[in-house]
Amino acid sequence: MNNKLKNFGFTSNKKIPVDKFLEKVLYQPRVGYYNNRVPFGKDGDFVTSPIISNLFSEILAIWMISTWEKFERPKIFNLVELGPGDGSLTKILIQTFKKFPEFNKSVKIFLYEKSDLLINIQKKKIEKEQIKWIKNYNSIKKGPVIFFGNEFFDAIPIKQFVVNNKKFFEKCYHFNKKGLRETYKKALPSDISVIKSFDILKNQNFVEYPKLGFHELNKIIKKISALSGGILLIDYGYLKPFNGNTLQTVMKNKKIQMNNLHNHIGKADVTYLVNFNLLKEFFKKKNLKVKNIVTQKFFLETMGIIERAKIIEKKMNNQQRKNMFLTLKRLLHKDLMGELFKVIFSYNSKKNSFLGFD
Ligand SMILES: C[S@@+](CC[C@H](N)C(=O)[O-])C[C@H]1O[C@@H](n2cnc3c(N)ncnc32)[C@H](O)[C@@H]1O
Repeated sequence: MNNKLKNFGFTSNKKIPVDKFLEKVLYQPRVGYYNNRVPFGKDGDFVTSPIISNLFSEILAIWMISTWEKFERPKIFNLVELGPGDGSLTKILIQTFKKFPEFNKSVKIFLYEKSDLLINIQKKKIEKEQIKWIKNYNSIKKGPVIFFGNEFFDAIPIKQFVVNNKKFFEKCYHFNKKGLRETYKKALPSDISVIKSFDILKNQNFVEYPKLGFHELNKIIKKISALSGGILLIDYGYLKPFNGNTLQTVMKNKKIQMNNLHNHIGKADVTYLVNFNLLKEFFKKKNLKVKNIVTQKFFLETMGIIERAKIIEKKMNNQQRKNMFLTLKRLLHKDLMGELFKVIFSYNSKKNSFLGFD
């Protein structure tokens, strides 16, 4: 085992469950992927919607304001961005909110970020007075709270299981002389019983269980249940049950093989596809309501992204106009992010009509 792998806390031949393995690969202090580099942007490993276009973030700002109105314009309205990355989304939210003074007086913005390196990047990009960086939700005590995250959930490591003759085996990784190898161990009864409690996971012989993701959501749901509000998640994911492995490893905007990851450890991102109907079932079990899951295309178009583009194009030259419509295509085209990305909103409110979903 080389020193580089030891820096991640790995030891030879030790079986590590997929989620614990990924936690080290992505978030180990100093060396983990999200702690040693800024992964976003065209020179990075991947681009996300707020980095592709400010229109995405402006539309989310309008959605936040419309949601504040649905909650009858409370004097305190908390927004928590989950996993803000390089801070692009909140930067535009702040700019847009300034055009709506009454809303701007009520809104309190919190950023929930795990990577210290990214917190520093966010602090450089965003006006600090209006923002609080938090590691838990204790300081949110009053008023409705809306949590939101773009590509947050798919960055939280998952567990994987194979089911053979009704017996569950947890997928693990281990390093031997040949490199990174897959292996299995008997699953914990507590994990099996949670998996079996979900209708959507029944009859699968390969199961992806976002145990750490659910742990994050439980903390959020507790706040929403106490103060009212909701959670809006936008992610790359699927609706029909999928009986297989969705982990993918990305470096410099290209996929690489998982069993080659040790050669790029700390330099490649590992994500998975979000099972949106599992999220829906999870929220419902926790007594939250859930709107129809929609595609990113449906959400952004229903919220008026095309109309907004048509207004701002009037002030643009030909090249700017061309660039704007190219970026819009990336966000909206059905074979690109438009339909691959989905949007879910789960909430605790007497109101049931929220823009973007019907
Ligand atoms: C794929 S990036 C998305 C960044 C940004 N939302 C965007 O769309 O550009 C995932 C973000 O979630 C953060 N993150 C992942 N797990 C987290 C956790 N458990 N708590 C807080 N932040 C987390 C990462 O550090 C990173 O900022």
